[in-house]
Amino acid sequence: MEQDDTKLQFDPNGNLRHLLSLKNLDSSLLTELLDEAEGFLTAPGALPTRSRSLAGRTVGNLFFEPSTRTRASFDLAGRRLGADVLNLDVNTSSRKKGESILDTIYTLEAMQVDIMVIRDASDGVPAYIARHVEDHVSILNAGESDVSHPTQGLLDLLTIRQHNADFKNMAVAIVGDIQHSRVAMSASQALQTMGIGELRLISPPALAPDADKFPGATIVDNITDGFRDADVVMALRIQRERIGNLDGIPGIDEYFANYGVSHESMKLAKPDAIVMHPGPMNRGIEIEGALADSPRSVITKQVTNGVAVRMAVLDRIGKVMSTR
Ligand code: NCD
Repeated sequence: MEQDDTKLQFDPNGNLRHLLSLKNLDSSLLTELLDEAEGFLTAPGALPTRSRSLAGRTVGNLFFEPSTRTRASFDLAGRRLGADVLNLDVNTSSRKKGESILDTIYTLEAMQVDIMVIRDASDGVPAYIARHVEDHVSILNAGESDVSHPTQGLLDLLTIRQHNADFKNMAVAIVGDIQHSRVAMSASQALQTMGIGELRLISPPALAPDADKFPGATIVDNITDGFRDADVVMALRIQRERIGNLDGIPGIDEYFANYGVSHESMKLAKPDAIVMHPGPMNRGIEIEGALADSPRSVITKQVTNGVAVRMAVLDRIGKVMSTR
């Protein structure tokens, strides 16, 4: 993320226009978004919050990579704010016929789609599109290669804050394929901005991240150091689709024994530590199924928070849009 990409996210009045990355967003903006998201949550069993703040607007979901949670939650978030939501079926779209991504975007722009939610496997695509769209259009990054997944970072931050808001005195451990994880990247950026006490990134050496991309984090190759007295343990999937060469990646049993998040390995963490996972989960590989289903797990809470966070982002962007 270049410095000018950070500027690109804001309109001339300093309001958030595109959400491309959490890098360089300040703690007051992150806190405002979390507070707004919190306001959209309702008690279990109650009907979801609805408003008309996006009435008349159109949100287009363009997912050029698989997605369940992110896509469904952007869809619901848009509808619950009164927007029309267009879910483009990329498998039957003209991009399969060789149309460039910009031509697809211009086509939707001509249909008065105001907010485009984009997931793509290549670096830089959301910022590239943001540079080319008309002034009335906003771009939201829903997952960019291994670089950025800002709404996931926000929902993770909200889930952690609900457990303990004292970021400065907490240790968060993220374990798994850190090297290929946009989830780890966005969560780390958000946690560092909030002044997290300790951020530990744990992975087998073959999946270790480039330390320069995670300033201030402690990078270790074992859970004994990584999980000790942690307040939060987040498990990540091995992103095989981004790994060219599987040499050096442990087999399933070895991986689970050394890096699996389980009732056993969680004994290293604090007794009240929570377990997170962005999904999709591979039970028995990076996480023990029984632990994922236990009261320690906040995985379904993350999903609920994901809708609220996306409502907060859409609502804010929509309000700014109506002033342009
Ligand atoms: C993640 C993603 O797509 O980056 N999932 C998600 O958005 N909840 C993580 C993954 O694919 O492993």
